[in-house]
Amino acid sequence: MSDPNLIVGIENSDDAGVYKLTEEIALIQTVDFFTPIVDDPYMFGQIAAVNSMSDIYAMGGKPLTAMNIVCFPIKELPGEILKKILLGGMEKIREAGAILVGGHSVEDSEIKYGLSVTGTVHPDRVIANNGAKKGDKLILTKPLGTGIISTAIKAGMASSEAIEEITLSMCTLNKKAGEIMQQVGANACTDITGFGLIGHLLEVLRAGNVGAILYHDMVPVFSEALTYAEMGLVPAGTYLNKNYYSCSVITDSDISIFKLDLLYDAQTSGGLLISLPEEKAMVFKEKFKTCEIIGEIIEERQGKIILRHS
Ligand code: CO
Ligand code: CO
Ligand code: CO
Repeated sequence: MSDPNLIVGIENSDDAGVYKLTEEIALIQTVDFFTPIVDDPYMFGQIAAVNSMSDIYAMGGKPLTAMNIVCFPIKELPGEILKKILLGGMEKIREAGAILVGGHSVEDSEIKYGLSVTGTVHPDRVIANNGAKKGDKLILTKPLGTGIISTAIKAGMASSEAIEEITLSMCTLNKKAGEIMQQVGANACTDITGFGLIGHLLEVLRAGNVGAILYHDMVPVFSEALTYAEMGLVPAGTYLNKNYYSCSVITDSDISIFKLDLLYDAQTSGGLLISLPEEKAMVFKEKFKTCEIIGEIIEERQGKIILRHS
């Protein structure tokens, strides 16, 4: 659909819709919910809320209001579990500086939780998927591997250190990264979720009619993720991503198939992938120490990723 005030619609598989209300304010709207990926209901609530608000940060905005979306088997499971999930979500809404204004629940055999989030941004400061420019550096703000480690958790194979590491990462808002990105300025941004690093990077490349070189040795991964990938603990979503996107990936140097699995790994509450000029990338890295520069934008090979050593 088109409308003079619609800044970002559904055409570029962007993170959220953006609609201009006035010359000063645009609304950002997004919704996301999913089934538990950790056993602790309070942590699950936090992760789901952080994941839902991430798309607002990926557009360069800040969350304003949120609504709960809940599916819960209220006849089979104690209400205490539901309470903990909602409490976890609320803590993160508060941390983001947003407020909970309502929600909707459905009785369902499987637990699902997430938020519908409304955020704001100045209409001139929207950071969409389609602005990546030749020479831009690509920054990733969180390691990869939550899908593979979650699969190890479900199989009862994950170490407590690995569980703690990904839980902490998935519970961390992209707020700071988003704020620094707005200060420094960026050409394009998305957050890494279900389609993995490769899938979401391809969305940016297709939207911007550019290509990219990805330095696979520079891509940060959680410490035990590679070990679990070698054990075959790879989620179905990651294999689907690989089947679907590998035709757009050119492998220009040796890379282990397990590291490759991680590049395709379906993430929950992943980091921001930011495309910005080199000097801005240096400033960003100075202000956000834990990020990595993982690649660069090129003019040729539109809509393709070349995998190479740095
Ligand atoms: Co997104
Ligand atoms: Co209702
Ligand atoms: Co985006």
